[in-house]
Amino acid sequence: MKIQFSSDSLKVTHQNNDYELHPIWLRERLPGYDYVDKDTNQRLYEPSSIKLDLQITTAKILEEKLDIEFNDGAKGKYNIQDLLTEFDNDKNKRGPLPKRLLWNSDLKVFPSVEFEENMAEKKSMYRLLEDFYKYGFVIIKNVPAKNQYLLKFVRSIGPVKVTNFGEYFDVMSKPKPNDLAYKPIALPPHTDNPYRKPAAPGIQFLHCLKNEVSGGYSTLVDGFAVAEYIKINYPEAFESLTKTNLRYQFQDKDIILENWGELIELDKEGDYKQVRYSTRVDYVPPIDRKKLTNFYKARKLLGDLYSSSDFEIKFKLKTGDVMMFDNHRLLHGRTAYDANEGARHLQGCYLDFDSTDGKLRHLYKKYVQDGFKNFG
Ligand code: OGA
Ligand code: ZN
Repeated sequence: MKIQFSSDSLKVTHQNNDYELHPIWLRERLPGYDYVDKDTNQRLYEPSSIKLDLQITTAKILEEKLDIEFNDGAKGKYNIQDLLTEFDNDKNKRGPLPKRLLWNSDLKVFPSVEFEENMAEKKSMYRLLEDFYKYGFVIIKNVPAKNQYLLKFVRSIGPVKVTNFGEYFDVMSKPKPNDLAYKPIALPPHTDNPYRKPAAPGIQFLHCLKNEVSGGYSTLVDGFAVAEYIKINYPEAFESLTKTNLRYQFQDKDIILENWGELIELDKEGDYKQVRYSTRVDYVPPIDRKKLTNFYKARKLLGDLYSSSDFEIKFKLKTGDVMMFDNHRLLHGRTAYDANEGARHLQGCYLDFDSTDGKLRHLYKKYVQDGFKNFG
């Protein structure tokens, strides 16, 4: 590593890459307890009060630390790797969250972990979350099949997302239900609750308490893998699916919930952000006729791919299994069953991504970063 400084910039050359660091950018990252609170790690001053004509007076590398003084009297030692990591767009955005592995029905070994008591701070939770971010789902085996045990488990990761259905829901056949899920019919691939604001629930958990029927298989599809397939092979359909804004609505005797969004939503960088697919509750607005014709063609393609054996995996949940999945990336469903054969009872609830993101970053620091440091 080489550095070269002038009063208004610091140039760093590292592994054939050149970086140019701004004095204010450096100054507002100054480590040390004069600048950062030692308990909370939060900045103790207003960074906009830093002089706009701030200059670097000295800069050198000492024992793998970058030692800098500024002309306002502030000085300190930086961990150079931490600074350079911020230049890596990917790392800066995702941090230690693993990269997605898109999958189709060739996926034969499903990500799964064995339940452990008080798992939240253990390495097994770190592995669980890694798999969840890679595959968009993970099966947790042998979670005690007790009423509401799921809530205890999920709360150990973060606060359960409460909705108008309550903290949790029971999926079993019921007389006069408010949702088709509560009849023993097949549920084709769908995402849950696209009608919620500000967004559909991020993560869904389904805990199998009883599955005594011969049908009632669970299905999953990687919506982002299907989107990628369409993007490569049917660009016109992709355009329509990512640009057409739909309305989603739920109503029962107490409430009418409504929100809008594309069937495939992209973020500002064109990366996949969220899929929505719930044909029981979606409504396309009366846009231009030609656009609508294209949209219907694209939607048919999408629906066919979502239910095709090329993309869908099918398996049976056993008593004690918890299926945890990303409701913004995966579609889920189930095959029909005969309620006269026996009981089928799943308990479900939702969680937001900040809980899993945050827990994974915390466990990464604990087991990987600090783990290495403690190692020597
Ligand atoms: C649901 C649902 C799946 C199942 O309740 O939204 O998708 O296996 N249930 O019953
Ligand atoms: Zn569902």
